[in-house]
Amino acid sequence: MRVFVILPAAGIGTRMSAGGGVGSGHSTPKQFLAIAGVPVLVHCLRAFLAVERVEAIYVAVRKPEIERVRAQIADFGLGAPGPGRKVHVVEGGNVRQQSVSNALAKLVADAGCTEDDVVLVHDAARPLIDPPTIDRTIDAVAEHGAAIVALPAVDTIKQVERTAHGAIVTATIPRERIVQAQTPQGARYGLLRRAFAEAVADEFAGTDEASLLERAGIEVVVVPGSAKNFKITQPGDIELAEFYLAAAK
Ligand code: CTP
Ligand code: MG
Repeated sequence: MRVFVILPAAGIGTRMSAGGGVGSGHSTPKQFLAIAGVPVLVHCLRAFLAVERVEAIYVAVRKPEIERVRAQIADFGLGAPGPGRKVHVVEGGNVRQQSVSNALAKLVADAGCTEDDVVLVHDAARPLIDPPTIDRTIDAVAEHGAAIVALPAVDTIKQVERTAHGAIVTATIPRERIVQAQTPQGARYGLLRRAFAEAVADEFAGTDEASLLERAGIEVVVVPGSAKNFKITQPGDIELAEFYLAAAK
């Protein structure tokens, strides 16, 4: 069983510059902004490279950024060309699912994955993922076939109906039945390939891998996540990540 990782990093971070408030107006996509002097993407790469079982990492970025990202990764001493090179930068797509799909195709062409290999996908915008959680996710995929990191919901969750007058509450969803999906999310390659193929055939677009696996009838188990593994999404989140990072020292 070999272990591979895909980091989708081809987004443009529209919510990061929304609102016009403090910290908005970033022109650099969030995955390339610095936290404690180190780009968000490099924080992710370091966490996955610290897990020995990870054989290779495929980062999907927008085409004009490929060379710059390769150089940046090398500047941080990662992914330098050579036989032991683990980090690869490939072209992403217009939506996250397409970025993952492109990286998966490249990974399969390069490494010749077999059905049993484990493929994890991690949002490049979650810089505070930690190696023990990655390890637990790999173990869960190895044991159950598919797994995601997720966090129990702390707030009471309401179902709503959107109307012209705003949202109206229609139901309360029991908190015990809710988790908030994070990443990494992964599966045995054979299962992931089937889930992606079915999504393409049905023209289904999902925002994570689990939604594709679920609709293919594949059981996905939950690995406990943590609040600090949040996704940099909106203005202020870089400062929040810096706070968590400083608190961990
Ligand atoms: N992503 C990607 N390719 C895309 C869109 C998103 O690889 N075409 C990546 C992002 O770079 C990010 C992850 O998927 O690492 C999660 O997506 P999200 O948080 O939605 O990032 P963005 O799409 O960049 O942000 P927004 O939705 O606010 O525009
Ligand atoms: Mg998005």
